[in-house]
Amino acid sequence: MKKITKAVIPAAGLGTRMLPISRTVPKEILPIVDRPSMEYLVREAVGAGIKDILIITGRNKEAIENYFDYSIEYKDVLQAKNKQKELADMEEVCSLANVYFLRQKEAKGLGHAVLCAEEFVGDEPFAVLYGDDVMVAETPVTKQLCDVAEKYGKAVVGVCEVPFEDVKKYCSMKIGTQYDDRTYLTTDMVEKPQTREEMFSNLAILGRVVLTPDIFDILKHTAPGKGGELQLTDAMKELARTKGVISYKYEGRRYDMGSKLGFLQANIETALKHPEIGDAFKAYLMDLCKTL
Ligand code: UTP
Repeated sequence: MKKITKAVIPAAGLGTRMLPISRTVPKEILPIVDRPSMEYLVREAVGAGIKDILIITGRNKEAIENYFDYSIEYKDVLQAKNKQKELADMEEVCSLANVYFLRQKEAKGLGHAVLCAEEFVGDEPFAVLYGDDVMVAETPVTKQLCDVAEKYGKAVVGVCEVPFEDVKKYCSMKIGTQYDDRTYLTTDMVEKPQTREEMFSNLAILGRVVLTPDIFDILKHTAPGKGGELQLTDAMKELARTKGVISYKYEGRRYDMGSKLGFLQANIETALKHPEIGDAFKAYLMDLCKTL
């Protein structure tokens, strides 16, 4: 398999689980203390050696674009105030990678968002980072998946073990040949199975995949699925059935920034480690806990 040099970050969804804030602030730019979650995603892709990143946006998502562009007014003020650290930080964020933007004109599903990336991707394997899933890991999760894809020459889906009662929210993987304690061949999957009998396993796709370009032809003939949306999992199911995909249990902490609880978990855990406010926040939290 060719080296993976491109990533697609779908971020055009309406974020109904984060209403009302998502009507005006894209959930993919919500802060984790002082940095938008999208910065974590771009850094993760860069950490996998990826330099070309396409973010799929939509109406009211301009804040994402603006963040990766220089803010001239800040540049002047920071220079005047001799805030060199902040200035260097801004310049670093703006030069992390070649970040491209494309608007999905209607939020017709994650599969449709990925299909919008066809021309950008061309005939190469590519990583997909779900725009509202932030991963904190020693080795960037995208790098873990790219290494596996390049080793086995197949598409890879990042999976986690979830409690059986939660599998109905996710896509459950059929487990075939086991290559090692984290890596399995998958030849089928089922999206949001509602009963234990329908579930293949409690390994669920969460947040990251590496796909081969044949996904685009599959997406073009995939019928809209649940909610009338073009579901990426429906296309990945066909890829699994025809070519096989690898399920890889990645190492890392996942925060679902598309949910209120996930947003808070990301903020609290990051605040506790934050160099500027970590100690003060911990003291505050310990005091607060005594009152709960
Ligand atoms: P989600 O299903 O979590 O996003 O998609 P959503 O539809 O915005 O969520 P809710 O259920 O209404 O709260 C995962 C990622 O795919 C993007 C989203 O922006 C999110 O980052 N997405 C989803 C698109 O880019 N386009 C779509 O049509 C749907």
